[in-house]
Amino acid sequence: MRTLTKIILASISVAFIAVNWSTVTFDPETLRGARVLVTGASTGIGEQMAYHYARFGAQIVITARREKVLQQVAEKCLSLGAQKALYIAGDMATETDPDRVVDFSLEKLGGLDYLVLNHIGPSPFSMWKGDVEHSRWLMKVNFFSYVQMAWKALPSLEQNKGSLVIVSSLLGKMPGPLTASYGATKCALNGFFGSLQHELAMKNSNVSLSICTLGLIDTATAMEKTKGIVNIPAAPASEAALNILKTGATRQAELYYPRTTFIISLTKDWFPTATNYFIRSTYNYKP
Ligand SMILES: NC(=O)c1ccc[n+]([C@@H]2O[C@H](COP(=O)([O-])OP(=O)(O)OC[C@H]3O[C@@H](n4cnc5c(N)ncnc54)[C@H](OP(=O)(O)O)[C@@H]3O)[C@@H](O)[C@H]2O)c1
Repeated sequence: MRTLTKIILASISVAFIAVNWSTVTFDPETLRGARVLVTGASTGIGEQMAYHYARFGAQIVITARREKVLQQVAEKCLSLGAQKALYIAGDMATETDPDRVVDFSLEKLGGLDYLVLNHIGPSPFSMWKGDVEHSRWLMKVNFFSYVQMAWKALPSLEQNKGSLVIVSSLLGKMPGPLTASYGATKCALNGFFGSLQHELAMKNSNVSLSICTLGLIDTATAMEKTKGIVNIPAAPASEAALNILKTGATRQAELYYPRTTFIISLTKDWFPTATNYFIRSTYNYKP
């Protein structure tokens, strides 16, 4: 038993060193004037990303469904230093809006250097109750629209040595309870864009593709859903947003934020039974 504990602790230490090891440095100047489209930017992590890009002097287009809120976020972006801050309302569950939003950005900014796909449709935090229609709808919003927007933006990103940034979740790496449909959309993202990462590298593409694995973040939506049910600390949305932005700017393939997400995804493979027990023990679920 003692030996096993030592092995686990040694493995976790190695994993911590590996995840903290980075030789890449972020130069904020690379974002001055950069042409960026951020989705799901009316609130939460997307809103915080818009503010960070603004502080670094980028030219931004933000999108989500609520036009009035987008207008307020865009105004704040301008006050923070954005060279441009435009907004376009769009519903990513529709067939046409993903293309329309990318076309708008290409036209207004004259091309794209960053496409940051971050939006998610609302989904319940509860046991699966057979709502197949919701799962289908959520797949459209959280997955198919990402594929469609990426395809539409790729030629411009290729031309500009740009970056495609996918905001995913630890649930895209391993399933968790109460999130069957949401987790499925994130697994789909990881599968699709993980494959695309290989293909871009094999083609010597100019485009970098970053897949961001996030743990629990203290956005209003996440806190409201998990309150009283999940007993793990939430990381700050502004810091999550900054880490995503740096990952894209430094053209890294992956981000794990907070860093514990990396350890959990490793231990899930190494010690599945213990990790599953740990995951369930963090939930206060009473049937
Ligand atoms: N917060 C967490 O704990 C956590 C953990 C892991 C991963 N993540 C990932 O981080 C990203 C951001 O999460 P968040 O917590 O910041 O989310 P959030 O606060 O719920 O924001 C979601 C955004 O998506 C927009 N949206 C919703 N439905 C839409 C639709 N049909 N079409 C277009 N836009 C739509 C919302 O704006 P409107 O309502 O105005 O449309 C909003 O701007 C997501 O990809 C999420 O999976 C978050």
